[in-house]
Amino acid sequence: MVEISTSILSVKKEDIIKTIYNLETAHTDYFHIDVMDGKFVENNNSQLMLEYAEYIKQISNIPLDVHLMVEDVYSYVNTYFSLKPNIITFHIEAIEDEEKLKNMIKYIKENGIRVGIAIKPNTKIEKLYKILPFIHLVLVMTVEPGKGGQELIDITLEKISELKSYIDKEKLDVDIEADGGIKLSNISKVKEVGTNIIVSGTGIINEKDYKDVIEKMKR
Ligand code: DX5
Ligand code: ZN
Repeated sequence: MVEISTSILSVKKEDIIKTIYNLETAHTDYFHIDVMDGKFVENNNSQLMLEYAEYIKQISNIPLDVHLMVEDVYSYVNTYFSLKPNIITFHIEAIEDEEKLKNMIKYIKENGIRVGIAIKPNTKIEKLYKILPFIHLVLVMTVEPGKGGQELIDITLEKISELKSYIDKEKLDVDIEADGGIKLSNISKVKEVGTNIIVSGTGIINEKDYKDVIEKMKR
């Protein structure tokens, strides 16, 4: 059974409160908060995403799954600590140095938050093997990070299946989250390769009946 993490990236400001309520009654497992700093990726939506995350904290108990597409990981991690997210994920491409990477992982865990590492389509999955024992989750990008509504890049599914067999072989306890371009029409091939948590933005938000589409995605 997969969990669904709905990305609210593409929700317009005037619709956000209504959308949070509708997604809550539709039983999304997480709200996926896509934070972009205008440096690691071109878009900068960090102010708006912080506002959305605060609204969610005020009106819902559904956990936050924060995806930091930022260069200055430390400052954004500190900003989101106050909202007590369930998961904070940052990009391996933003912290190359192994020592700094391990310290950041430790820092997030010390604050009682599950730590995820995100990986872009062109980054080799082997880059993560050394730090897998220290993290809770790998977020495999199935599109180039930076915007919603893109097409899933099929080749990234091979990375998920490679990662899954490595995790099983090493008997590690790490969740795999897939993110980008996932909708009802292609979700089965994402599940098949061993994904535990599925992020979907436009694949859910553009649908009329959230409850129906989320139920079908979980099946
Ligand atoms: C892309 C984000 C994804 C994206 C998902 O940079 O990390 O979470 O918004 O949206 P869809 O499902 O529309 O691709
Ligand atoms: Zn995301």
